[in-house]
Amino acid sequence: MKIIRSATGMAVLSQRFLREGVRIGLVPTMGALHDGHRALIREARLRCDALVVSIFVNPTQFGPQEDLAKYPRPIAHDHAMCRKEGVDVCFEPTANAMYPNGFQTVVTLPTVARRWEGEIRPHHFSGVATVVTKLFGIVRPQVALFGQKDFQQSVLVRQLVKDLNLGVEMVVCPTVRETDGLAMSSRNVYLSQEEQVRAITLYKSLRAGAEVIRRGVTDGKAVQSAMAHVLKKEPAITIDYLALCDPSTLEPLCDVTSRVVLLGAVRIGSVRLIDNLLVTLPRRSSK
Ligand code: PAF
Repeated sequence: MKIIRSATGMAVLSQRFLREGVRIGLVPTMGALHDGHRALIREARLRCDALVVSIFVNPTQFGPQEDLAKYPRPIAHDHAMCRKEGVDVCFEPTANAMYPNGFQTVVTLPTVARRWEGEIRPHHFSGVATVVTKLFGIVRPQVALFGQKDFQQSVLVRQLVKDLNLGVEMVVCPTVRETDGLAMSSRNVYLSQEEQVRAITLYKSLRAGAEVIRRGVTDGKAVQSAMAHVLKKEPAITIDYLALCDPSTLEPLCDVTSRVVLLGAVRIGSVRLIDNLLVTLPRRSSK
């Protein structure tokens, strides 16, 4: 497995791959790899010839009060997982390689980035959109894989690829969960054992929302209150938002249509967690 730290070194290798007709796959990550990343890497392995995993804790997607400095960076563990999963290249640029002196350009965000995470973390998506555009420009992948766990991010990147004609096939893989249902996230290491147990309540609340929809409730407010009811039983949790949205536009829905996404974000102590569930209603037979 090659480890490349310079953007030019990566670009040169990618150009060689492209000249040779090698299909490049990219799994963009911020490291601290877990089984959710492993699933993306395994799926990518099936879809490309040269598999690149980028590991870059992107400073521009963290707000001033966020966890950039303490974000976990277990690089030896990450390399071991990548080697084991047959990754060809780990692209690990430095912040200076990505944002050299004089760097000025940022991507203007589409409306899908406006609400939810976009409202609570105003710097976040502009950093994500810019770094993903740069990674695509350097690595030149034909296919890139993202996790459903960051649902709004995946909708944003899909829009970015379409609007800027980036020519990358986007694959979104299902969220990987602990056996108790907690969505895997690099930030779960911040949770104490007790908090981990409490954290599952977010998933339970989304499941409760999905359950009432499946039982035939179509009123958005009723679904939201079913989700909130579960979370309110856990006083250690503060709700940032619980929403029922159209999965393509991320606009809130008053009524459940055929396909909805339930989005949730909460805080437990200083740890922030997000999760989501896609719900597709079975077609009702018309008499
Ligand atoms: O999902 C992540 O890990 C990051 O937001 C990404 C896509 C690697 C951009 O820094």
